Amino acid sequence: MITKELITELKNKGNGDLSYLLDKQKDNKTIIFILENLGYLPSNFDGTVFKTLLQHDYGKIRLLAAKNIAKLTNTDNIEILLQALQNEKDTAVKREIVSAIGRAKNIKNKQILLNILQDNDPKIVCQAIRGLLVFSNDNEVIENLKPLVNHPNEMVRTVIYKEFFSNTTSKQSDLPHTETYNFLKNVVVNDDVLKVLRYVPDESIHLTFTSPPYYNARDYSIYASYQDYLNFLDSVFKETHRVTKEGRFLIVNTSPIIIPRVSRSHSSKRYPIPFDLHPYLIKQGWEFIDDIVWLKPETSVKNRIGGFMQHRKPLAYKPNAVTEYLMVYRKQTEKLLDWNIRSYDQDTVEKSKVADGYETTNVWKIDPCFNKIHSAVFPVELCKRVIQYYSYKGDIVFDPFAGSGTVGKTAKSLDRFFFLTEQEKVYFDYMLSKTKTNALFNEIKTRFLTLEQFNETIINDTNGTGN
Ligand SMILES: C[S@@+](CC[C@H](N)C(=O)[O-])C[C@H]1O[C@@H](n2cnc3c(N)ncnc32)[C@H](O)[C@@H]1O
Repeated sequence: MITKELITELKNKGNGDLSYLLDKQKDNKTIIFILENLGYLPSNFDGTVFKTLLQHDYGKIRLLAAKNIAKLTNTDNIEILLQALQNEKDTAVKREIVSAIGRAKNIKNKQILLNILQDNDPKIVCQAIRGLLVFSNDNEVIENLKPLVNHPNEMVRTVIYKEFFSNTTSKQSDLPHTETYNFLKNVVVNDDVLKVLRYVPDESIHLTFTSPPYYNARDYSIYASYQDYLNFLDSVFKETHRVTKEGRFLIVNTSPIIIPRVSRSHSSKRYPIPFDLHPYLIKQGWEFIDDIVWLKPETSVKNRIGGFMQHRKPLAYKPNAVTEYLMVYRKQTEKLLDWNIRSYDQDTVEKSKVADGYETTNVWKIDPCFNKIHSAVFPVELCKRVIQYYSYKGDIVFDPFAGSGTVGKTAKSLDRFFFLTEQEKVYFDYMLSKTKTNALFNEIKTRFLTLEQFNETIINDTNGTGN
């Protein structure tokens, strides 16, 4: 039987015994097992055995052969790798071959890698770039790489931007990443979010979670046209982008909506809000991260299937809409998430760790919530998950369309600060009334302000973050 121990023993004896073992194998699985378990290769190992395997019919074996060639201390395999690259059709194998050429870190391979930059597969181009970055002091390499910032492919452009241009253009915030201004903490402002945001400084919000008005489906939001509505959301999320800290998240809850028909001789109209909003967000500089589906019980939604149940006529099928989207975006940055996480002290990281029982899929089964005053409130459970998964304790969570204030009270209960804006006085007053009856709002010093009062608090706030 072939074991890991046997593979190690044969490997240490040199190429011969291992070649013999591999040659005898008819079964691809065994060849893969051997190649996957070779680990570190000793300096006397010449790797001849891999060269034949680079021609194998099975792609995974060619890939593993290339991977092992990259481990050889003998870097003289360029011809064989080049030949394999020319004949190779499988992208994953091609990538591995280019990686092997790059990992040799041999200046003689520079021109080969420069030629690979012309490949029409962006993943191969990125791999060649990685290999070339080892020679980033070489003028010829720099001259060839820099223009790729205009490459048609976005992955290639991002890599080049990060390597050569990011430090010169990145905007620095006045505040440490983990902190925000006192005048934003636990504040509710009663006005149009666009007016309020004019007073909010750049890079001061850690997380935005919101459910915008549903176009003209509810009374509180009337827009002259769907395009006007999208333009309004464009302005709100552009401003949200400005006030969001580098690399932090925006989570937008929307769903396609139906505007009922005017009469029996007309049809109702469906508007795919999440899909129409998405391109605006991307253009503003948000990076798409995930789509989470909020799944509700069928009994809780409007029954649309009734007619079909009777007539069963194709084309007139209208399923009950039991889902909404939580579209997750991150403010675009070349910095990794790890950079954001490392900004926090160890104590905050520990205390913010998500407890057992967290959701493992992107389908969240949560019952909707009904409220006498507001027709579209978030369930607390939905807010809890978003806030716990996408912010740290002590962060500030923003909801531009606060409604009954569910995001605010949940943020507070999870030891985060909140900043809310709500245009309608009736909902603002409802939140205010909750300070008397709702322990969550009651416990904290929430400030309920008009736009003018908010402006005054900013002017009077001389101590900045107060930390
Ligand atoms: C879908 S509801 C949000 C409900 C909220 N998630 C909750 O849990 O109660 C949208 C809210 O946005 C508010 N709104 C609409 N346009 C606004 C604007 N320009 N500025 C601030 N709030 C606005 C509406 O009055 C409404 O309460």
